[in-house]
Amino acid sequence: MNKTKLLVLFGGQSTEHEISCISAGAVLRNIDLELFTVRACGITKEGDWIEIEGKDGSIDVDRIVSGEWAKAPDTKGQGIKPAIDLIYGCDAVFPVMHGIMAEDGSIQGLLSVLGKPFVGAGIFSSALCMDKVYTKAVLREAGIPVVPEVIVERDDLDSFDKVASVVEREIGFPCFVKPSNSGSSVGAYKVMTGDDLFAKVIDAAKYDRKVLVEKYIPAREVECAVLGNRRPVAATPGEIVSTGEFYDYDDKYINGTSYTRIPADIPEEDLKTIKDMAVKAFLALDCAGLARVDFFKDKEAGKIYLNEVNTIPGFTSISMYPKMWEYEGLSQKDLITKLVELAIQNAAENKRTL
Ligand SMILES: Nc1ncnc2c1ncn2[C@@H]1O[C@H](COP(=O)(O)OP(=O)(O)O)[C@@H](O)[C@H]1O
Ligand SMILES: [Mg+2]
Repeated sequence: MNKTKLLVLFGGQSTEHEISCISAGAVLRNIDLELFTVRACGITKEGDWIEIEGKDGSIDVDRIVSGEWAKAPDTKGQGIKPAIDLIYGCDAVFPVMHGIMAEDGSIQGLLSVLGKPFVGAGIFSSALCMDKVYTKAVLREAGIPVVPEVIVERDDLDSFDKVASVVEREIGFPCFVKPSNSGSSVGAYKVMTGDDLFAKVIDAAKYDRKVLVEKYIPAREVECAVLGNRRPVAATPGEIVSTGEFYDYDDKYINGTSYTRIPADIPEEDLKTIKDMAVKAFLALDCAGLARVDFFKDKEAGKIYLNEVNTIPGFTSISMYPKMWEYEGLSQKDLITKLVELAIQNAAENKRTL
């Protein structure tokens, strides 16, 4: 049997570059080498593409995880050129990359132009899920509950008094401020009073032209893994227990004090509701392959909201997406095989049939 030639892409130019390298390491260590031949290519923060090889032709995963790979001196300014043959030469691509220029349809556009099947959502769905304002608009249309928000544009900052009174009236305090396009809680703040609102919105607006000011939800954070194309299935939801005020960047990657549990410690009927909503959202947002759908369950009011959809969730050894499938009996190795199969199937299904 011919092995499938898989290209793993990682790194990228977003704020989640480092986490991508760690995720790629975990993916590369778990690929089934009975079924695949593998090559790996990193994209530096400057946008240079570098193929990673080890001494004996195998891939040096430690150099990828440590970030050493990006320090090669003679790669500056080479852009994508060295990677084009790599992309053309493979059967499928797994972009293990998060955030802007990675998870937002950019890389998906490039791979679509080059005619390569890839793991995960296509151009439109990737862009849609990256933008919280538009994700929420589509979810509302699909009848899925989302947290009420006021949208602030950079242009509105000049007449902030007006914004402040709308927030006061429609959202109240505390509220939660975050950029529409971001990730890893960068630019996200809990705001206690009107006095602090302007400064936090200004900061969030550094990351994106649009900022959401949401109702603050004192929430349990429940995540649900979805797998498939047009008939997706959801795994038993898990829960993130953060130790800080909310699940911020430090809590996600630095403190090491937050923890997870699968299943989430919520009633059986809530687990079922969340699974159903996750599959419904996956289809409404035109996702493909995989998505981690994140929810809030209000600790006081009990209401469940869909918070956001990640089309390329983390894949580190402690990441929820692979852990939730492991709980269902699907090993990381089989999960990766399944994702590549879905990628190839999805590319075939999306071909025009004229
Ligand atoms: N409306 C909200 N109320 C309370 N906490 C929130 C709210 N929105 C976001 N958060 C907190 O901020 C974290 C990051 O926000 P999220 O919308 O998931 O963006 P990101 O794409 O950065 O992960 C969430 O995991 C949660 O802890
Ligand atoms: Mg999140």
